[in-house]
Amino acid sequence: MTRVLSGVQPSGEMHLGNYLGAFRSWVADQHEHDAFFCVVDLHALTLDYDPAALAERTLVTAACLLAVGLDPETCTLFVQSHVPEHPRLAWLLECTASMGELRRMTQFKDKALRDDGGTESARVGLFTYPVLMAADILLYDADRVPVGDDQRQHLELARDLAIRFNGRHGDTFVVPQAALPAAGARVMDLQEPTRKMSKSVSSPQGTVLVLDPPDVVRRKVRRAVTDTETEVRYDPAAKPGVSNLLDLLAAATGGKPAQLAEGYTTYGALKADVADALVALLEPVQQRYREVADDRGELRRVLAAGAERAHQVAAATYERAAGAAGLLAP
Ligand code: TYM
Repeated sequence: MTRVLSGVQPSGEMHLGNYLGAFRSWVADQHEHDAFFCVVDLHALTLDYDPAALAERTLVTAACLLAVGLDPETCTLFVQSHVPEHPRLAWLLECTASMGELRRMTQFKDKALRDDGGTESARVGLFTYPVLMAADILLYDADRVPVGDDQRQHLELARDLAIRFNGRHGDTFVVPQAALPAAGARVMDLQEPTRKMSKSVSSPQGTVLVLDPPDVVRRKVRRAVTDTETEVRYDPAAKPGVSNLLDLLAAATGGKPAQLAEGYTTYGALKADVADALVALLEPVQQRYREVADDRGELRRVLAAGAERAHQVAAATYERAAGAAGLLAP
């Protein structure tokens, strides 16, 4: 059976990019594969964060994943820091990765510049983050990693590290593959449609949150930046705003963006339909969220059971890797 693993940072509220780029695939994958999903709290330490809020955000993120449809009886949902093999394997992989290949990671350069004033003052953890991510994946012998387009380069690194480690120490790791959704792999910011929607951009108006009430979703879509023309056409390079709206409509309703464009003569009509589609998409999630988030005891029980299952798999892989790397067994 194919093994699936993916993760999300608890670094802010979940948005439409997370949902369409990743979570929707996770929900489908759990029924077809042996699936592991984690809230990667260790990754959230790589940028400035509020320690007082982290534990709560971790719980809220887990609640959000249950609300979108992950079923803890069907998949394994856990918190990264509850499974100590993640940083342990990351060390073995840090001794496999090179400085040069980590320096090439575009997210490192972007985030270091944005949050830390450049690569010299960035945390070392931000630099080695993709190696921890590789450890997240390789620990579970994952064949398939459902992610949005922005994680493609990190997945390539995970593959390279698995192949290199296997070459040096003998067959140890499964070489994973990224799985991107057909629609929604790169949801763009509604205010700045040339950059991806993200938890950390300064304009909250450009980011639709999974838990935004319907009137807020409608307002954000209505105010989405388009262009000075009037023609509804799918052309991401020349018309990024309109194309993003068409992508969203396609992701929410299942059509093809270029074909959907033919049904519209005004931006207003397109926006109205996008808003309706998004509200309909998010409404059931928001309803379930209220039920799930209120029961903290159950949420913690789910995460404890998940950590136990994850640990069984991770411990066996770590032992295999440590043995292959030549470490003396305790
Ligand atoms: P994170 O927390 O930034 O995002 C979680 C998932 O959401 C996807 N995503 C998007 N998809 C489409 N459009 C967008 N605008 C958009 N923004 C985010 C991401 O691609 C991701 O799939 N490094 C990862 C977390 C991670 C991980 C892992 C993922 C840690 N370990 C192991 C897979 C496997 C991250 O920061 O995702």
